[in-house]
Amino acid sequence: MTYQSGRHFLQIPGPANVPDRVLRAMAAPTIDHRGPEFASLARRVLAGVARLCGTARPVALYPSSGTGAWEAALVNTLSPGDRVLAFETGHFATLWAQMAGKFGLDVDLVPGDWRRGVQAGQVGEKLAADPGHQIKAVTIVHNETSTGCASQIPLIRAAMDDARHPALLIVDTISSLGSVEYRHDEWGVDVTIWCSQKGMMLPPGLDLNAISEKALAAAARARLPRSYWDWPGRESRSLATASARRLTTSGQRPDRRGPMMPRTIPRLSRSAGVSRSQVATCGTRSVPSLRIEAASSGAVTAR
Ligand SMILES: Cc1ncc(COP(=O)(O)O)c(C=O)c1O
Repeated sequence: MTYQSGRHFLQIPGPANVPDRVLRAMAAPTIDHRGPEFASLARRVLAGVARLCGTARPVALYPSSGTGAWEAALVNTLSPGDRVLAFETGHFATLWAQMAGKFGLDVDLVPGDWRRGVQAGQVGEKLAADPGHQIKAVTIVHNETSTGCASQIPLIRAAMDDARHPALLIVDTISSLGSVEYRHDEWGVDVTIWCSQKGMMLPPGLDLNAISEKALAAAARARLPRSYWDWPGRESRSLATASARRLTTSGQRPDRRGPMMPRTIPRLSRSAGVSRSQVATCGTRSVPSLRIEAASSGAVTAR
Protein backbone atom coordinates (compact mmCIF):
# COMPACT_ATOMS: atom_id res chain seq x y z
CA MET A 1 0.00 0.00 0.00
CA THR A 2 1.30 3.50 -0.83
CA TYR A 3 2.46 5.47 2.21
CA GLN A 4 0.56 8.72 2.70
CA SER A 5 2.10 11.25 5.04
CA GLY A 6 -0.07 13.72 6.92
CA ARG A 7 -3.78 13.54 7.40
CA HIS A 8 -5.95 11.89 4.80
CA PHE A 9 -8.44 14.59 3.80
CA LEU A 10 -11.35 13.34 1.75
CA GLN A 11 -12.94 16.00 -0.45
CA ILE A 12 -16.15 14.30 -1.54
CA PRO A 13 -19.78 14.92 -0.53
CA GLY A 14 -19.73 11.88 1.72
CA PRO A 15 -18.33 10.22 3.62
CA ALA A 16 -17.60 13.74 4.87
CA ASN A 17 -14.62 14.50 7.08
CA VAL A 18 -15.44 13.50 10.64
CA PRO A 19 -14.52 16.08 13.31
CA ASP A 20 -12.00 14.96 15.96
CA ARG A 21 -14.54 15.23 18.79
CA VAL A 22 -16.72 12.73 16.94
CA LEU A 23 -13.80 10.36 16.42
CA ARG A 24 -13.01 10.61 20.15
CA ALA A 25 -16.63 9.84 21.07
CA MET A 26 -16.37 6.60 19.12
CA ALA A 27 -13.47 5.38 21.25
CA ALA A 28 -15.62 4.03 24.08
CA PRO A 29 -16.30 0.52 25.34
CA THR A 30 -19.21 -1.33 23.79
CA ILE A 31 -22.49 -1.31 25.69
CA ASP A 32 -25.26 -3.92 25.48
CA HIS A 33 -27.44 -2.91 22.57
CA ARG A 34 -30.42 -4.57 24.30
CA GLY A 35 -29.69 -3.11 27.76
CA PRO A 36 -31.08 -0.12 29.71
CA GLU A 37 -28.13 2.19 29.03
CA PHE A 38 -28.71 1.74 25.33
CA ALA A 39 -32.45 2.33 25.68
CA SER A 40 -31.85 5.72 27.24
CA LEU A 41 -29.21 6.61 24.62
CA ALA A 42 -31.57 5.56 21.83
CA ARG A 43 -34.41 7.69 23.21
CA ARG A 44 -32.20 10.79 23.09
CA VAL A 45 -30.97 9.99 19.59
CA LEU A 46 -34.46 9.29 18.25
CA ALA A 47 -35.81 12.58 19.59
CA GLY A 48 -32.85 14.46 18.13
CA VAL A 49 -32.95 12.97 14.65
CA ALA A 50 -36.72 13.49 14.44
CA ARG A 51 -36.12 17.18 15.09
CA LEU A 52 -33.40 17.22 12.45
CA CYS A 53 -35.92 15.93 9.87
CA GLY A 54 -38.55 18.42 11.01
CA THR A 55 -41.00 15.82 12.24
CA ALA A 56 -42.94 15.52 15.47
CA ARG A 57 -43.54 11.83 14.76
CA PRO A 58 -41.31 8.87 15.66
CA VAL A 59 -38.60 7.84 13.20
CA ALA A 60 -37.13 4.41 12.46
CA LEU A 61 -33.34 4.16 12.74
CA TYR A 62 -31.24 1.37 11.28
CA PRO A 63 -27.61 0.39 11.47
CA SER A 64 -26.91 0.42 7.73
CA SER A 65 -25.78 2.66 4.92
CA GLY A 66 -28.26 4.80 2.99
CA THR A 67 -29.10 1.97 0.60
CA GLY A 68 -30.78 0.19 3.52
CA ALA A 69 -33.02 3.20 4.15
CA TRP A 70 -34.06 3.15 0.47
CA GLU A 71 -35.05 -0.48 0.87
CA ALA A 72 -36.87 0.12 4.16
CA ALA A 73 -38.98 2.88 2.58
CA LEU A 74 -40.02 0.66 -0.33
CA VAL A 75 -40.72 -2.60 1.49
CA ASN A 76 -42.72 -0.97 4.26
CA THR A 77 -45.10 0.94 2.02
CA LEU A 78 -45.60 -1.04 -1.20
CA SER A 79 -46.84 -4.36 -2.58
CA PRO A 80 -45.60 -6.43 -5.54
CA GLY A 81 -46.72 -4.90 -8.85
CA ASP A 82 -47.41 -1.44 -7.37
CA ARG A 83 -46.60 1.41 -9.73
CA VAL A 84 -43.81 3.81 -8.69
CA LEU A 85 -43.07 7.13 -10.38
CA ALA A 86 -39.35 7.99 -10.36
CA PHE A 87 -37.27 10.68 -12.08
CA GLU A 88 -33.82 10.22 -13.57
CA THR A 89 -32.02 13.17 -11.99
CA GLY A 90 -28.72 11.29 -11.77
CA HIS A 91 -26.91 8.18 -10.65
CA PHE A 92 -28.65 7.71 -7.30
CA ALA A 93 -32.19 8.21 -8.58
CA THR A 94 -31.41 5.60 -11.23
CA LEU A 95 -29.99 3.09 -8.72
CA TRP A 96 -33.00 3.53 -6.44
CA ALA A 97 -35.38 2.92 -9.35
CA GLN A 98 -33.41 -0.23 -10.21
CA MET A 99 -33.80 -1.44 -6.63
CA ALA A 100 -37.57 -0.88 -6.84
CA GLY A 101 -37.61 -2.98 -10.02
CA LYS A 102 -35.80 -5.81 -8.22
CA PHE A 103 -38.64 -5.90 -5.69
CA GLY A 104 -41.17 -6.48 -8.48
CA LEU A 105 -42.50 -2.92 -8.44
CA ASP A 106 -43.64 -1.45 -11.76
CA VAL A 107 -41.30 1.54 -12.07
CA ASP A 108 -42.00 4.43 -14.44
CA LEU A 109 -38.57 6.09 -14.55
CA VAL A 110 -39.05 9.42 -16.30
CA PRO A 111 -35.88 9.98 -18.36
CA GLY A 112 -33.78 13.04 -17.53
CA ASP A 113 -30.58 14.70 -18.75
CA TRP A 114 -28.94 14.76 -15.27
CA ARG A 115 -28.89 18.57 -15.49
CA ARG A 116 -31.94 19.55 -13.46
CA GLY A 117 -33.99 18.41 -10.49
CA VAL A 118 -37.47 16.97 -10.73
CA GLN A 119 -39.85 19.38 -12.46
CA ALA A 120 -43.03 19.76 -10.39
CA GLY A 121 -45.07 20.30 -13.59
CA GLN A 122 -43.96 16.92 -14.88
CA VAL A 123 -45.02 15.24 -11.62
CA GLY A 124 -48.43 16.89 -11.94
CA GLU A 125 -48.82 15.76 -15.57
CA LYS A 126 -47.89 12.17 -14.79
CA LEU A 127 -50.32 11.99 -11.88
CA ALA A 128 -53.13 13.67 -13.82
CA ALA A 129 -52.70 10.94 -16.46
CA ASP A 130 -53.36 8.31 -13.78
CA PRO A 131 -57.05 8.74 -12.87
CA GLY A 132 -57.21 5.15 -11.57
CA HIS A 133 -54.48 5.92 -9.01
CA GLN A 134 -52.28 3.03 -10.06
CA ILE A 135 -49.23 5.04 -8.98
CA LYS A 136 -48.68 4.30 -5.30
CA ALA A 137 -45.50 6.27 -4.67
CA VAL A 138 -43.47 9.14 -6.13
CA THR A 139 -39.77 8.81 -5.32
CA ILE A 140 -37.58 11.92 -5.37
CA VAL A 141 -33.88 12.43 -4.61
CA HIS A 142 -33.82 15.86 -2.93
CA ASN A 143 -30.15 16.53 -3.66
CA GLU A 144 -28.68 14.38 -6.44
CA THR A 145 -25.19 13.93 -5.09
CA SER A 146 -23.90 12.79 -8.46
CA THR A 147 -25.01 15.89 -10.35
CA GLY A 148 -25.59 18.63 -7.77
CA CYS A 149 -29.19 19.06 -8.98
CA ALA A 150 -31.73 19.91 -6.30
CA SER A 151 -35.47 19.24 -6.46
CA GLN A 152 -38.00 21.61 -4.93
CA ILE A 153 -39.99 19.39 -2.58
CA PRO A 154 -42.72 21.94 -1.63
CA LEU A 155 -43.47 22.52 -5.34
CA ILE A 156 -43.65 18.78 -5.97
CA ARG A 157 -46.01 18.36 -2.99
CA ALA A 158 -48.20 21.16 -4.34
CA ALA A 159 -48.33 19.48 -7.77
CA MET A 160 -49.40 16.20 -6.14
CA ASP A 161 -52.08 17.99 -4.13
CA ASP A 162 -53.33 19.86 -7.21
CA ALA A 163 -53.66 16.53 -9.04
CA ARG A 164 -55.58 15.20 -6.00
CA HIS A 165 -53.51 12.06 -6.22
CA PRO A 166 -53.07 9.84 -3.15
CA ALA A 167 -49.57 8.50 -4.02
CA LEU A 168 -47.02 8.59 -1.22
CA LEU A 169 -44.20 11.13 -1.51
CA ILE A 170 -40.90 9.40 -0.63
CA VAL A 171 -37.82 11.63 -0.50
CA ASP A 172 -34.12 10.69 -0.34
CA THR A 173 -32.38 13.40 1.71
CA ILE A 174 -29.14 11.45 2.02
CA SER A 175 -26.92 14.31 0.91
CA SER A 176 -29.25 17.17 1.85
CA LEU A 177 -30.41 16.69 5.43
CA GLY A 178 -28.15 18.69 7.71
CA SER A 179 -26.90 20.82 4.78
CA VAL A 180 -29.99 22.06 2.98
CA GLU A 181 -33.27 23.25 4.48
CA TYR A 182 -35.71 20.38 4.88
CA ARG A 183 -39.06 19.98 6.71
CA HIS A 184 -40.67 16.55 6.66
CA ASP A 185 -43.97 17.42 8.37
CA GLU A 186 -44.44 20.93 7.01
CA TRP A 187 -43.70 19.89 3.43
CA GLY A 188 -46.07 16.91 3.57
CA VAL A 189 -43.47 14.24 2.90
CA ASP A 190 -44.56 10.66 3.67
CA VAL A 191 -41.18 8.98 4.02
CA THR A 192 -37.84 10.74 4.44
CA ILE A 193 -34.66 8.75 3.90
CA TRP A 194 -31.38 9.86 5.46
CA CYS A 195 -27.99 8.47 6.45
CA SER A 196 -25.16 9.68 8.64
CA GLN A 197 -22.07 10.20 6.52
CA LYS A 198 -22.85 13.41 4.68
CA GLY A 199 -24.51 16.51 6.17
CA MET A 200 -24.02 15.36 9.77
CA MET A 201 -20.30 14.65 9.28
CA LEU A 202 -20.46 11.22 10.90
CA PRO A 203 -19.07 7.92 9.68
CA PRO A 204 -21.41 5.80 7.54
CA GLY A 205 -23.56 3.20 9.25
CA LEU A 206 -26.63 4.92 10.67
CA ASP A 207 -29.70 5.66 8.60
CA LEU A 208 -33.35 6.47 9.08
CA ASN A 209 -36.86 6.67 7.76
CA ALA A 210 -39.12 9.49 8.99
CA ILE A 211 -42.69 8.30 8.55
CA SER A 212 -45.98 10.19 8.10
CA GLU A 213 -49.25 8.87 9.46
CA LYS A 214 -50.32 8.12 5.89
CA ALA A 215 -47.16 6.09 5.28
CA LEU A 216 -47.72 4.16 8.50
CA ALA A 217 -51.27 3.34 7.32
CA ALA A 218 -49.80 2.17 3.98
CA ALA A 219 -47.39 -0.07 5.91
CA ALA A 220 -50.35 -1.91 7.43
CA ARG A 221 -51.49 -2.86 3.89
CA ALA A 222 -48.09 -3.29 2.17
CA ARG A 223 -47.26 -6.84 1.12
CA LEU A 224 -43.60 -6.71 0.08
CA PRO A 225 -41.75 -9.17 2.32
CA ARG A 226 -39.88 -7.51 5.17
CA SER A 227 -38.48 -8.48 8.51
CA TYR A 228 -35.35 -6.58 9.57
CA TRP A 229 -36.62 -3.40 7.91
CA ASP A 230 -40.12 -3.61 9.39
CA TRP A 231 -41.21 -0.23 10.83
CA PRO A 232 -43.65 -1.04 13.62
CA GLY A 233 -41.76 -0.96 16.89
CA ARG A 234 -38.52 -0.26 15.08
CA GLU A 235 -37.73 2.74 17.24
CA SER A 236 -37.56 0.55 20.34
CA ARG A 237 -35.21 -1.95 18.75
CA SER A 238 -31.46 -2.05 18.27
CA LEU A 239 -29.30 0.34 16.36
CA ALA A 240 -25.57 0.69 16.03
CA THR A 241 -24.49 1.75 19.49
CA ALA A 242 -21.28 3.36 18.35
CA SER A 243 -23.16 5.48 15.82
CA ALA A 244 -25.71 6.49 18.41
CA ARG A 245 -23.00 7.53 20.80
CA ARG A 246 -21.31 9.53 18.09
CA LEU A 247 -24.55 11.44 17.64
CA THR A 248 -25.00 12.27 21.30
CA THR A 249 -21.62 12.62 22.92
CA SER A 250 -19.82 14.10 19.98
CA GLY A 251 -21.11 17.61 19.76
CA GLN A 252 -23.05 16.63 16.62
CA ARG A 253 -26.15 17.01 18.75
CA PRO A 254 -29.07 16.55 16.37
CA ASP A 255 -31.37 18.03 19.00
CA ARG A 256 -29.44 21.30 18.79
CA ARG A 257 -29.74 21.30 15.03
CA GLY A 258 -33.39 21.97 14.35
CA PRO A 259 -34.95 21.57 10.93
CA MET A 260 -33.81 25.02 9.90
CA MET A 261 -30.35 24.98 11.48
CA PRO A 262 -30.41 28.77 11.24
CA ARG A 263 -26.68 29.38 10.96
CA THR A 264 -25.44 26.30 9.13
CA ILE A 265 -27.74 26.24 6.15
CA PRO A 266 -27.33 29.85 4.96
CA ARG A 267 -23.55 29.46 5.41
CA LEU A 268 -23.46 26.31 3.28
CA SER A 269 -25.73 27.85 0.73
CA ARG A 270 -23.40 30.89 0.46
CA SER A 271 -20.35 28.68 0.00
CA ALA A 272 -22.19 26.65 -2.65
CA GLY A 273 -22.84 29.91 -4.53
CA VAL A 274 -19.17 30.90 -4.21
CA SER A 275 -18.07 27.48 -5.51
CA ARG A 276 -20.34 27.85 -8.52
CA SER A 277 -19.10 31.33 -9.33
CA GLN A 278 -15.47 30.19 -8.97
CA VAL A 279 -16.10 27.35 -11.39
CA ALA A 280 -17.49 29.92 -13.80
CA THR A 281 -14.47 32.23 -13.28
CA CYS A 282 -12.10 29.37 -14.06
CA GLY A 283 -13.77 29.17 -17.45
CA THR A 284 -14.91 25.62 -16.79
CA ARG A 285 -18.02 24.82 -18.74
CA SER A 286 -20.83 24.55 -16.20
CA VAL A 287 -24.14 22.84 -16.61
CA PRO A 288 -26.65 25.52 -17.76
CA SER A 289 -29.43 24.63 -15.33
CA LEU A 290 -27.04 24.74 -12.38
CA ARG A 291 -26.63 28.47 -12.93
CA ILE A 292 -30.23 28.75 -11.74
CA GLU A 293 -30.14 28.85 -7.94
CA ALA A 294 -33.36 26.84 -7.51
CA ALA A 295 -31.97 23.94 -9.55
CA SER A 296 -28.61 23.88 -7.80
CA SER A 297 -27.74 22.10 -4.65
CA GLY A 298 -27.41 24.33 -1.61
CA ALA A 299 -24.80 21.86 -0.36
CA VAL A 300 -21.32 22.03 -1.80
CA THR A 301 -21.38 18.71 -3.54
CA ALA A 302 -19.99 16.78 -6.49
CA ARG A 303 -20.11 18.88 -9.60
C1 LIG B 1 -28.42 10.79 -2.81
C2 LIG B 1 -27.88 9.45 -2.40
N1 LIG B 1 -28.73 8.42 -2.25
C3 LIG B 1 -28.29 7.19 -1.88
C4 LIG B 1 -26.95 6.93 -1.64
C5 LIG B 1 -26.50 5.56 -1.23
O1 LIG B 1 -26.09 5.62 0.12
P1 LIG B 1 -25.00 4.60 0.71
O2 LIG B 1 -23.81 4.67 -0.16
O3 LIG B 1 -24.76 5.13 2.11
O4 LIG B 1 -25.62 3.24 0.74
C6 LIG B 1 -26.04 7.98 -1.78
C7 LIG B 1 -24.61 7.76 -1.54
O5 LIG B 1 -23.76 8.57 -1.81
C8 LIG B 1 -26.51 9.26 -2.16
O6 LIG B 1 -25.68 10.30 -2.30
